[in-house]
Amino acid sequence: MSFPDDLMKKIQNLKEKKRAVILAHNYQRPEVQDIADFVGDSLELSLCATQTDAKIIVFCGVNFMAETAAILNPDKKVLIPDRNALCPMAAMLPAELVKFYRKKHPDAKIVLYINSLAEAKANCDAVCTSANSVEIINRIDSETVLFGPDSNLARYAKNFTEKNVIPIPSMGFCPVHKLFNKEEILRLKKSHPDAEIMAHPECSPEVCEAVDFVGSTSKMYQEALSSEAKKFIVATEIGLLHRMKKARKDAVFIPAYEEAICVNMKLHTLEKVYLSLKQERYPVELPPKIMDQARKAVEFMLKTRENPQGKKLQ
Ligand code: 13P
Ligand code: SF4
Repeated sequence: MSFPDDLMKKIQNLKEKKRAVILAHNYQRPEVQDIADFVGDSLELSLCATQTDAKIIVFCGVNFMAETAAILNPDKKVLIPDRNALCPMAAMLPAELVKFYRKKHPDAKIVLYINSLAEAKANCDAVCTSANSVEIINRIDSETVLFGPDSNLARYAKNFTEKNVIPIPSMGFCPVHKLFNKEEILRLKKSHPDAEIMAHPECSPEVCEAVDFVGSTSKMYQEALSSEAKKFIVATEIGLLHRMKKARKDAVFIPAYEEAICVNMKLHTLEKVYLSLKQERYPVELPPKIMDQARKAVEFMLKTRENPQGKKLQ
């Protein structure tokens, strides 16, 4: 689909006039990725939010990502083009549940996946993303680590640490990554023996074991750039394939399941990005106390820069 040049131009003009920057997650619609100043995974977008000197950040991602940008930039205006872009997995671990687990395991530390509610983050010890979960678990000062809300990421990280990692809640999951299954991966592997297969660590342990490479969305993207393979099967939300195809015109990218679509991520359209810039809507606002408490946990993560993840399970 091609988009009216004038809408693209209007967005560019407004961006310059208002000294705004557009950040987009790897799962955004192709046209939103194309208009963005920066496209990346949740770790890269958090880092980017700390480095920009723009006055306005238009964040095209789900709300926990925009909230993280707001937590890191209390003096900037952070806008989200559609307020309904929520992550159902984040909702699986309300702050009350974090407090409940804290009481149940008083000696453990709590690491929360960035895909969590701001109020839950305010009650944890450190935040991590899918790109650095092992590193953060290893850095936190406790042998027992409560990790949530994604139980699959908790199980994946457990493969690379000596620590006792307990998923909270025990069955938290991403509904999009739940759509992939091992049987289908093995069938695709048989039909495309020359393909490299990659998956996001939010997939089940069985899927992660069946593929060649496991990593965050940007780690999979980097793998697609550096690999000598000419064919890739990708087990994550289909938005990432747009970026991969643009960068590797010589290669073929096959979605492991073409209906793996995060409807929340797709709520941001070009039209809404334009209206967001024009009307400065919708500002991401959180209670100052929650922001201050959550900031400590996010800053703990950002102090860490090595990312040993993005590998095949042994
Ligand atoms: P990344 O951190 O890999 O971008 O993933 C975020 C996410 O929501 C995956 O479903
Ligand atoms: Fe949340 Fe899954 Fe969508 Fe990522 S893909 S934002 S984890 S629902």
